[in-house]
Amino acid sequence: MRTYLVTGGAGFIGSNFIHYMLNKYGKEIRIINVDKLTYAGNLENLRDVEDLDNYSFVRADICDSAAIEEIFRKNDIDVVVHFAAESHVDRSIRNPEVFVKTNVLGTLVMLNNAKASWELSDGTFKEGKRFLHVSTDEVYGSLEEDGGYFYETTPYAPHSPYSASKASSDMLVKSYMDTYKFPANITNCSNNYGPYQFPEKLIPLIINNALNGKKLPVYGDGKNVRDWLYVMDHAKAIDMVINKGRLFETYNVGGHNEKQNIEIINIILDTLQEMLPDGDPRKAHINKDLITYVEDRKGHDRRYAIAPDKIKSEIGWEPETMFKEGIKLTIKWYFEHEDWMKNVTSGDYVNYYAEMYKNK
Ligand code: NAD
Ligand code: TYD
Repeated sequence: MRTYLVTGGAGFIGSNFIHYMLNKYGKEIRIINVDKLTYAGNLENLRDVEDLDNYSFVRADICDSAAIEEIFRKNDIDVVVHFAAESHVDRSIRNPEVFVKTNVLGTLVMLNNAKASWELSDGTFKEGKRFLHVSTDEVYGSLEEDGGYFYETTPYAPHSPYSASKASSDMLVKSYMDTYKFPANITNCSNNYGPYQFPEKLIPLIINNALNGKKLPVYGDGKNVRDWLYVMDHAKAIDMVINKGRLFETYNVGGHNEKQNIEIINIILDTLQEMLPDGDPRKAHINKDLITYVEDRKGHDRRYAIAPDKIKSEIGWEPETMFKEGIKLTIKWYFEHEDWMKNVTSGDYVNYYAEMYKNK
């Protein structure tokens, strides 16, 4: 029975990954989820698995080396899947410090504890151990509107404090692979969307605001391009890299779903109209008049686009969920989880939203 230590499992991608893995492998695996439960971590995301014998939760900060060491001491961890991070670019522009602490120092703590637990006296590592570092395509910087893709060989050129902190964490993982032959992989994925995403990110923010008749803030000219991937396709890619990826390699994850932000917003508005039942009062206010162009994000990257050639040819992974289908699944999930949205949009988020969008 393989034991996975998942960091940040109470967040958006981490919780989807845990669902994916428990669904796929059932009792064949054990998952320990370690999460600090910041504003972005929510145990409600895992309510349906919390009573399983092969799932457990530890509340800890990944920067707290003693707490992480204890988890490794008490459990024979086979695979670390490292999601825990501060993940929102706008927050990083306001407060970079916590990004460096969690994303850089926290990753170092995870690496050191995995290394100490897995290393043999001759400096090699126990058979079958693996550290999967989950990263982003934003480390590669920004592409021109009219061409080019991010490959694994593209030089790093991060622009935001968020992407700079993720780039630093990637570099630390690379240095451990190069220096110690530490058994790891890095995945650099494009923008995810799907269930359980916190409504500070574009897609859930637009869905929530539109349903509530609130303005839909578009940064700049709305023509920035992101390469959107349905979150379960990402979960599948991570599982495949763990099982089939060559150690020490980086794999880019994403591809073929490039859209301008304004296109995304229009698709969401059309899909909401299509999916809401006739007579639903919200149908009356969901329209393009809600779209509001606001001041651009500082240092706003123009375009991200992944070339998934390597993961496709080496591992056989490719995106399966087309945007039209994925956005329907996502909107359906938000329709069915209004309480989840109410809970996460109370408290801290209300203050964040008022502060962040006050001049926009
Ligand atoms: P998220 O913000 O939804 O979740 C992050 C989780 O990490 C939360 O549960 C939070 O409580 C936890 N966490 C934060 N600081 C912690 C700390 N110090 N100790 C322990 N736990 C802590 O993020 P997400 O969107 O699920 O992203 C997960 C990972 O995937 C991140 O590393 C991110 O960089 C990467 N990524 C995200 C995207 C995307 O589109 N969301 C795309 C590519 C890569
Ligand atoms: P976001 O979801 O924050 O992801 P990232 O910045 O990591 O790509 O933003 C996606 C795109 O949407 C990005 O170009 C910024 C833009 N955006 C808006 O136009 N309005 C908003 O309110 C938000 C949150 C984002």
